[in-house]
Amino acid sequence: MASLLRELSEPRIVIAGASGGIGFAMLSALAERFPRARIEALARRPEQRPKLLALAEQGGGAIRLHRFDLGDEAGLLELGARLSAEGPIHLLLFATGILHGEGLQPEKSLAQLDAQAVRKVFAVNALGPLLLTKAMLPALRGTHPVVVAALSARVGSIGDNRLGGWYAYRASKAALNQLFRTVAVELRRLNPKSAVLLLHPGTVDTLLSAPFSGGMQPRLTPEAAASRLLALIVDAQPSEGARFLAYDGNEVPW
Ligand SMILES: NC(=O)c1ccc[n+]([C@@H]2O[C@H](COP(=O)([O-])OP(=O)(O)OC[C@H]3O[C@@H](n4cnc5c(N)ncnc54)[C@H](OP(=O)(O)O)[C@@H]3O)[C@@H](O)[C@H]2O)c1
Repeated sequence: MASLLRELSEPRIVIAGASGGIGFAMLSALAERFPRARIEALARRPEQRPKLLALAEQGGGAIRLHRFDLGDEAGLLELGARLSAEGPIHLLLFATGILHGEGLQPEKSLAQLDAQAVRKVFAVNALGPLLLTKAMLPALRGTHPVVVAALSARVGSIGDNRLGGWYAYRASKAALNQLFRTVAVELRRLNPKSAVLLLHPGTVDTLLSAPFSGGMQPRLTPEAAASRLLALIVDAQPSEGARFLAYDGNEVPW
C-alpha cells in the first residue's frame, strides 16, 4: 500500500513543540524534506527562541509561529479551531513533553509521589495533545491523507515495565498511547486515509534527558533522531489502529 505523505508536494503540517530539542530538529527536517509545505509551528515561548525565529524568517512565510500552552484548555481549543478553519492538515505532530522541571522530578519511589506534579505531567504529556487533536478534528476528517504522530517513550510501555519508578512520566506516556490508540479508531471512521503513530525517539541529547545522562545508553543527536522519526512518519500507511514504534522502526509492546 502507498505511503500517505511521501508523494505530497505541498502538505500542511502542524508541529507542536517546535522549540524543543527533538521538535526543532524535526521542524528543520520537515522544512527540508517538504520545501513547499505550509508549516504551523507551535511553541510555548517562540519569541524567546532565536533559532526558531531565524528558521521561520528563512522560511519566508511558509513557517508560521504560534504561541500555545498544553496546560491552557481554552487556548488550545481556540488555536485548534483557528488553524483547522484554514483547511485540511496532513501531518499533526506532537514533539512536546515534560519529565522534570520546577517542583518536578521523576519519582524513584512511591514516597516521592506528589499529586500536583502528577497532574501537571498528565496535563502536558497526555491530555493537552488530546485536546488540541479534538480541536483540529475538522481539518483531519475527510478523504485527504493524514498522519497524527506523537512522541511517546519506551518507558510508557506497560508490557516492557520491568524497572519501575518514574510513576508520573511512565503513566502519562501510557495514557498518551491509549488516548491516541483510541483516536486512531475514531479517525479511521472519519478519514480512511489516516494513520496514528506513537514514536519512541531513542535516548536523545536534549534538556529533557540531560539530568539522566550518566547511564550506558547510546545517545542520539536530535538531528539523528529527527531524521529516523521523519522516515517513519513519511513511510506511514493507512492503518486500522495506531502503531507504537521506536526510532529504528521496531514495534514497542504497548
Ligand atoms: N530526549 C529523550 O531522550 C527522550 C526519550 C524518550 C522520549 N522522549 C520524548 O520526546 C519528546 C520531546 O522531548 P525532548 O527530548 O525534545 O525534550 P525538550 O527539549 O525538553 O522539548 C520538550 C518540548 O515540550 C514543550 N513543552 C513542555 N511543556 C509544555 C507546555 N506546557 N506547553 C507547550 N509545550 C510544552 C517544550 O517547550 P519549551 O521549549 O517552551 O520548554 C519543548 O518544546 C517528549 O515527549 C519526550 O517525552 C525524549
